[in-house]
Amino acid sequence: MATIKPFKLEELREALTAIGVRGMMVTEIKGFGSQSGHTEIYRGAEYAVNFVPKIKLELVVSDSMAEQVVETICTTARTGKIGDGKIFVLDVEQAMRVRTGETDADAL
Ligand SMILES: Nc1ncnc2c1ncn2[C@@H]1O[C@H](COP(=O)(O)OP(=O)(O)O)[C@@H](O)[C@H]1O
Ligand SMILES: [Mg+2]
Repeated sequence: MATIKPFKLEELREALTAIGVRGMMVTEIKGFGSQSGHTEIYRGAEYAVNFVPKIKLELVVSDSMAEQVVETICTTARTGKIGDGKIFVLDVEQAMRVRTGETDADAL
């Protein structure tokens, strides 16, 4: 699970598919980090409110790919300015492809 700046989405999708990611969920969210949104710039405007628009990505990948995915998100999404986002790594208990009933790595 990762939050990124919205303008980074397309570049990140390309970088992730290039390393073999085959699916992801994308949600438009609002959030805040340690500056509570106060000093972040979004589309040229400083956000006076506490919540700043972000994209949340959710990707389920095999264990063997996880480190490379984290690295790719981190390097691609980084601008060096505040609000670049966060990456959280969680274990997934089960996956299933509904169409075929395939499970776990076969379902990705
Ligand atoms: N501790 C957290 N838990 C959940 N989401 C977070 C957390 N910290 C940041 N986020 C999400 O990540 C987005 C970007 O955070 P960011 O400003 O880069 O973090 P920070 O200011 O702590 O370095 C936030 O808008 C929020 O959606
Ligand atoms: Mg911040």
